[in-house]
Amino acid sequence: MTPAQMGEIMRRHGTDKATSHAYHIPYARLMEPYQQLEPCRLLEIGIKRGSSLRTWAEVFPHLEMSAIDIDPKTEKNAPEGCATYIGNQGDDAFLDSVIAAEAQWDIVIEDGSHRIDHQKDTFVKLWPHIRPGGLYVIEDLQSSRSDLYSTRDIRKQNPRDEQTTVDWLFDIARYSMGRRRHRRGRDTMTLSFFTEACFITKNP
Ligand SMILES: C[S@@+](CC[C@H](N)C(=O)[O-])C[C@H]1O[C@@H](n2cnc3c(N)ncnc32)[C@H](O)[C@@H]1O
Repeated sequence: MTPAQMGEIMRRHGTDKATSHAYHIPYARLMEPYQQLEPCRLLEIGIKRGSSLRTWAEVFPHLEMSAIDIDPKTEKNAPEGCATYIGNQGDDAFLDSVIAAEAQWDIVIEDGSHRIDHQKDTFVKLWPHIRPGGLYVIEDLQSSRSDLYSTRDIRKQNPRDEQTTVDWLFDIARYSMGRRRHRRGRDTMTLSFFTEACFITKNP
């Protein structure tokens, strides 16, 4: 699928992924290997109006889709057949319950709160449940700028969050070089940075 085709489908369903974010370009390029999986198991955090979920339903012929949102009002917007889980991605026990219900995914898309602490913690929690060869996407990495998404306050509150998500991802890339690899980089095949998003693939 070309970026133009992906952009057209995204705009038709009303997601902001094909606006100034320009996520349609990496999604067109990097989702292709997963389109013919039978089934392709996909989880997205962030339902809102269901626009991206309807996009995936059109793009993947054999989709098993699930979605998370903190706002119960969004549940009705998920397309038919999409399993929904209402809760906070920052709540460890809630994510455990989703993992227990869902087992593994080929693709996880994190488009929820955009908080740097949630972006890092959710990745740590869900990455082990990505299948070999799978894909994890973190959107809205502009939250690593201190003046956005309460990032300055989050960094002050917890020394663990001193590092923004972008710096933290760079560390995974940096320490994946050489024999003494970063513990989170060991099974990481690629980290691809795009405008405001990172696409991370797992070794097959
Ligand atoms: C940017 S919107 C998702 C847009 C959708 N993925 C699309 O592209 O059409 C973000 C969604 O994340 C949800 N959200 C915000 N904070 C969250 C949290 N802590 N846990 C789970 N969902 C959250 C919001 O309620 C909102 O519906």
